[in-house]
Amino acid sequence: MDDKHDGRVTREGIRLHERGDFAGMHAAGRLAASILDEGAEFVFPGQPTGEIDRIITEKVEAAGAGSATIGYRGYQHASCISVNHVVCHGIPGAGIPMGKDETISRNLEKRRPDDRLLDGDILNIDVTVIVDGWFGDSSRMFVAGKPRPQAERLIQVTHDALMRGIEAVRPGNTFGDIGHAIQTYAEGQRMSVVRDFCGHGLGRVFHAPPNVLHYGRAGHGPRLEEGMFFTIEPMLNLGRPETKVLSDDWTAVTRDKSLSAQFEHSVGVTSDGCDIFTLSPAGRFHPTWG
Ligand code: MF3
Ligand code: CO
Ligand code: CO
Repeated sequence: MDDKHDGRVTREGIRLHERGDFAGMHAAGRLAASILDEGAEFVFPGQPTGEIDRIITEKVEAAGAGSATIGYRGYQHASCISVNHVVCHGIPGAGIPMGKDETISRNLEKRRPDDRLLDGDILNIDVTVIVDGWFGDSSRMFVAGKPRPQAERLIQVTHDALMRGIEAVRPGNTFGDIGHAIQTYAEGQRMSVVRDFCGHGLGRVFHAPPNVLHYGRAGHGPRLEEGMFFTIEPMLNLGRPETKVLSDDWTAVTRDKSLSAQFEHSVGVTSDGCDIFTLSPAGRFHPTWG
C-alpha cells in the first residue's frame, strides 16, 4: 500500500487514519508495552545494558514481530537505553557515558569501562515494534536498585507531564495545547523541557508529520483531528534543557550533565478524546518504588 497517495491527509501532511486502523495500532502498541512490562525483571545493578537489549530482541522475535529500530539509519539494536544524563538514543552495550560525579577530567565523552548498571542509575528503555505493518513506539523509566530522591522526583514529574499532554489530546485542541500542557507543568516543577527532540506522527511508518513539540503556546500549531496517530515523548532535565550528541552520532546527553528522564506513548485521536495504544497490560507504565 502506498502510504503517500491513499486516504486522507491534512494540509500539514498529517494522515487521518480510518476507524479500522486503530486495531492495528492497538496490537503493535500492546506488544511494545508488554515487552517493557517484562523489562523491570532485567534491570538491576550489575546488569549490562547490552544484555537488556539482547532480551528485548528475543522477545520481539518470539512475538513474530519486527523491530523498527534495527537497520533504521544504520542503528543496530532493538532498543535505545538512555542512562542518567543520556537524554535519548543511548546505544545498548556501547559503554555508559560517565556522569557528573564520575568524571575527574573535563573530557565530556568519558565512558564507564563497561555497560553494567550501577545502584541508583535511572534509565529509559525505548522500544519500537512492527506488527502487521503497524508501528508501536513506547518508552518508560526504570531504576537499577534504589533511586536518589531527586531522580525519583524527575521520573515522577516526567511521567505526569506526559499524562498531562495526553489529557490535552482531543479533536478541536491543537498540538500547541499538548506542548503547552507539558511545558507549564514541567517548568512549574522547576524542571526543563528538552527542545532538540520531539514526538512524531506514526502508523504504517515510523516517523511522519507532524513534529510533536513538548513545549508551545495554547491554541497554536495544527488542529487535532480524529484519526491522527502520533507519539508524545517528553524529555525533562533536572538542569538546563540543552543537549549534545556524542561522537557515536547517536547518544544525546544533557550539556550540563544533569539527569534526564523520558516517557513515551503512542496515541490516536478519537471522536471525543484519545486512545493510548501503548498502555501497559500489567499496569506497570508508571514505576512503582519498592
Ligand atoms: N524510538 C525512538 C523514538 O521514539 C526512535 C529511535 S530511533 C533509533 O522515536 F534508531 F535510535 F533507534
Ligand atoms: Co517515538
Ligand atoms: Co520511542
